[in-house]
Amino acid sequence: MQSFEYKCPTEVVFGKDAELKTAEKIKKYGGSRVLVLYGGGSAKRSGLIDRIETVLQQAGIAAEIMGGVHPNPRLSFAREAEKRAELFGADFVLAVGGGSVIDTAKAVAIGLAHPGKDIWDFWTRKEAVTGAYPVGVVLTIPAAGSETSDSAVLTDEETKRKRGLNTDFNRPQFAVLNPELTYTLPSFQLSCGITDMLMHTLDRYFTIDRNNQLTDEIAEAVMRVIVRNGRVAHCDQTNYDAMSELMWSGSVSHNNLTGLGNEKDFSVHQLGHELSAMFDVAHGASLSAVWDSWANYVMSSAPERFARYAEKVWGVWNGETEEKAKAGIMLTVRFFRSLGMPTCFSELQGVGIQSDEVLKQLASNCMYGGERTVGTFCKLDIPAAYEIY
Ligand code: NZQ
Ligand code: ZN
Repeated sequence: MQSFEYKCPTEVVFGKDAELKTAEKIKKYGGSRVLVLYGGGSAKRSGLIDRIETVLQQAGIAAEIMGGVHPNPRLSFAREAEKRAELFGADFVLAVGGGSVIDTAKAVAIGLAHPGKDIWDFWTRKEAVTGAYPVGVVLTIPAAGSETSDSAVLTDEETKRKRGLNTDFNRPQFAVLNPELTYTLPSFQLSCGITDMLMHTLDRYFTIDRNNQLTDEIAEAVMRVIVRNGRVAHCDQTNYDAMSELMWSGSVSHNNLTGLGNEKDFSVHQLGHELSAMFDVAHGASLSAVWDSWANYVMSSAPERFARYAEKVWGVWNGETEEKAKAGIMLTVRFFRSLGMPTCFSELQGVGIQSDEVLKQLASNCMYGGERTVGTFCKLDIPAAYEIY
């Protein structure tokens, strides 16, 4: 087990009607003037925003409500929201939505703590983050895990760059998880969420470290629970128990518990981010579209790891190491297909990647033009990324 430091301070408030505790939690973490962010309208249509507004009003908390966060959230919107928060004198940012809304809230919170500086400079590492205003979350989609993660991902739509920023300052103060709030999700978004949460543990599980029993077994349990309940929720989206398991798994899968003592890989995420940056592909779809190709590319570097994955997550106990490894990959791909997810580029809706030039561009962008490699399980450079794409 490698040395690690682990801090996961987010208070999780789980269960039916949990959103009614939002005002109490905001006060607990020092908020009195709140910028409330939401997405393209689902939270407004479901009545959730009105409920939150009422709860805040009753508690005497002043609120400025701002909708319009786009999936794969845009830098320009985050800048606009930061200005609005400053004008309002916000001392707290509340995200009502999924990863896109939460990440925008995190960007606003970092911006507010560094007046006069441009948000993007933190994402490009020109500036170091030294603080953030407090953020709270009312989660509406089990997926990105941003409600407890130390990460926030933004897209600069002008340069088509999608970049993540990891810092402990990104951890929300609290996250409200009411599984009933997910019932209105479009089926495709639910499938994207299931894929993403599985991938957060997969991208940690395929690692060069091999002597890490507790983390490995936690990771395997999380993946089994996601697969089992993903199947149920895909067929019955208002199944409270299945959605509860998914909602909690989404948080646990990305709060780093499933990767402690290991070096993270995260190649599939990096490969996927370039697809989203160039074609605005939904995050979960960007991952399922490259995973098969990535797995087949890297499998020979550690077939025994893939074989263990096949055994522990998919129950494949028969066969030689390589046969089991291949079966595990095949069953994962089949699972994505059963959710209606794309598993290769030709299955990506609305993305016609036919030219070799596009593949080369994607590979180059992913490696910042050759300035970096991605992954630890198997280090990928431009030619490797090109092969996988
Ligand atoms: O915008 P609205 O109208 O709310 O609709 C959203 C959006 O279209 C819809 N939705 C969410 N909850 C709903 C609902 N529709 C009906 N009923 C509900 N209850 O779902 C769509 C997707 O929302 P989004 O917030 O984009 O989903 P997700 O949580 O998957 O977030 C994806 C973003 O998070 C980033 C991704 O790259 C992507 O930008 N990630 C953030 C991470 C982090 N901060 O730790 C880690 C992840 O790996 C990921 O990169
Ligand atoms: Zn993800």
